[in-house]
Formats: sequence, C-alpha cells, structure tokens
Amino acid sequence: MGDAVDVVYLDNAATTFPKPGEVVEAVTECLRSYAVSPRRGRNPLSRAAEKEMDRARTGLAKMLGVSPDHLIFMPSATYAINLVLQGMGMSSGDILYISPFEHNAVVRCAEYLRQTRGVQVRELPIDRDCNLDVHEARRWFMTAPPKLVAVVHASNVSGDILPIKEVADLAHEYGAKVLVDGAQTVGAHTPQLDNCGYDFLTFSSHKGLYGIPGSGGLVINSDPELIRPLIYGGTGTNSEDTVMPSTLPERFEAGTHALPSIVSMRAGVQWLESVGIDKVRMKVEGLTRRLINGLTSLGIGIVGCRSRHGNSGVVSFTMGGISPEELNRVLDSEGICVRSGLHCAPLAHHTLGTFPNGTVRVSPGYFNTEADVDRLLEVIEALC
Ligand code: ALA
Repeated sequence: MGDAVDVVYLDNAATTFPKPGEVVEAVTECLRSYAVSPRRGRNPLSRAAEKEMDRARTGLAKMLGVSPDHLIFMPSATYAINLVLQGMGMSSGDILYISPFEHNAVVRCAEYLRQTRGVQVRELPIDRDCNLDVHEARRWFMTAPPKLVAVVHASNVSGDILPIKEVADLAHEYGAKVLVDGAQTVGAHTPQLDNCGYDFLTFSSHKGLYGIPGSGGLVINSDPELIRPLIYGGTGTNSEDTVMPSTLPERFEAGTHALPSIVSMRAGVQWLESVGIDKVRMKVEGLTRRLINGLTSLGIGIVGCRSRHGNSGVVSFTMGGISPEELNRVLDSEGICVRSGLHCAPLAHHTLGTFPNGTVRVSPGYFNTEADVDRLLEVIEALC
C-alpha cells in the first residue's frame, strides 16, 4: 500500500481482500507473459491466452459441477443477470417473480422490464427468516404462472441462505425458468446443479472465488436459444457470419474478455481446492460465530442470521443511539473496513425491517483472524 496504515478489512461480502498469493502470481504471470486476445489469431501468444481461458473454464466448470461449454464468461455477475432477465424476451403479461432479498442487479433490471415491456414483477412469499411459504407460492403460481423466477442464493445484507431448491422445484412444476444469483456464494458455498436444479446461475470473480474484478460467469442449464445475446460482436470464430454463432460459449462472449480476471478465477479455484473448500468455509463460519457471540453479549441485535439453510458469512447489525452511517465513520477512523447503509439491496432491507437507514455489515474472509474480530468488538464495546 502507498501510505501503509494498519487496517482490518472486514468487507469481504463486497470484495474479498487480500487475494491469495497464488492469485496474485497467476495474474502477474498472465500480464507478464500472455495477456493478449484469446481466440484471435493463431500466433503463439494468442494460443497461450486461449489455452489459459479454456483451462479456467474447465477448472471452474468442474467446481460448479457443469459442462465447460455451458459456462459463459461475463464481465460481472450483474452483467450475467442482465443477460438472462433482458435476453429472455419477456413481454407484457409475462410474470417475473423475485425473492424479497434481491440485490439491485435484479431489482433495477426487473423494474426496467416492467416499465419498458410491461412485465409483471412479483415478490415470492419468503419471510425474513428465509422460509418459503410453499402453499402460498403454489396458489400464486397457479393463478399467475411465472415465466422466470430470480432468487439470490444468499442475501448480501444478512448472509442468509435462501431455499433455492424449494423455489426451483416449485417454479419448474409451473414451467418457469429459474435464475440463481450466486454472487455471494460461489466459492465456499457453491450451489451444485444436481442439488438444486437451476436453469441459470450467475457469479462473480472477485468475491468467493478470491479473484480480481472484471469477470464473472453464467451457467446455462437450459436451451441457450431461450436467451438472446445482450451484446453483439466479434467472437474470434465464424467471422464471415453477420449473425452471432449459436454455439456456446461463443453466442454470449462477444468482444475481448478480461483475461487477467478470468485467470484469477482459475487461480482462485485452485487455491480454494488446495486449502480445502470446507476449511475456508469453516474458518469464515468460526469468525462469524465469534462476531455474533461478541455482539450479542454486548446486547446488540443482529439483523438476520436466522435462516435454517445457513449463512454465507455476513453479520449485519444496528445499534440504538448511533446510525449505521455514523458507526461506519467511527470504524473507518479506527482503520476497520466494513460497509453500512443499504448495500445496493433496499428490497432486502425492507424485508428485514432496516429500511431506510440500513445496517452496519461485517463480513470476514479467510484471511481474517480472531484478533480482527476482537478489534472490531472492542471499538463497539467502547460505544455501548
Ligand atoms: N454487492 C456488493 C456488496 O454487497 C458490492 O457490497
């Protein structure tokens, strides 16, 4: 760091930091040796770039339990969500159900579809503890069948994991497609296709995969023709055609991709596997538990963290007498990095009863220590 300060980073739900040395090395090696356009030309560097992109696709696909051809590289999870929501060609009369915990990546895109295409947007009957009212949902689906159901795997506000399998099973009974937003979980809590049966899964490089920003992905477990590309352009293949290729992954991969970021995802997966995904998850769970116990013993109420499906490692809370924004300022001044406010997820805050002020969100990562959590707790205790 330029001006080194003694900081404690506890905002891993936004972006994991620091990155594992293996990721830093892989990105550095990419930039130093082969950061050219993959699939463009047959020169040795372009071939090396293509080989690394293929390697990344294969490694990620294996971790996700899907076929590499069905894994599309995207500039971000937000982009991938937009591709599915906008690309499905929904129009007036179509019904899009979303969970009450969605991030603005889904909410704003859904609102755009409502305003411009007359798509009806409804919230699924999921309560603040992430329980799906199956009976109620079935009743709604019978009278107003969904075209698409979008559900975040874990809330970026509370970390609570949603019942994606129950949602997917029910939505499929009524012929809908299911999009799972795995931005907060792919990595240590990766949803496996054979367990939950999604049609589309979106994820990002810079969170649970410990990669760098600039890429993400979309898994398509459905007919790719159901989605129109959002972006048209060169794919490095079939250049004579004026239409986009119908084959995957090219159909949705126009333009030159952020190879260093894609390489970072591959290195992130390798790192996770070498440490042990369970070990990474358990370390974060342990820190989260310490945080919850510490805050609770100070009489501070935690927001969420009550889903029976688990938690991705996020603790949100509010304190009487001090706003989340003010508390964030105090923590900033102590060199403790957290995120307060609405976290780009006002809908989730409505659901949790913390709109409009939001919460203070603390999200440990693998590289945090118990001492980091204790330092935050000491600052909070001094304010009690
Ligand atoms: N969606 C990210 C967050 O939760 C950036 O902070």
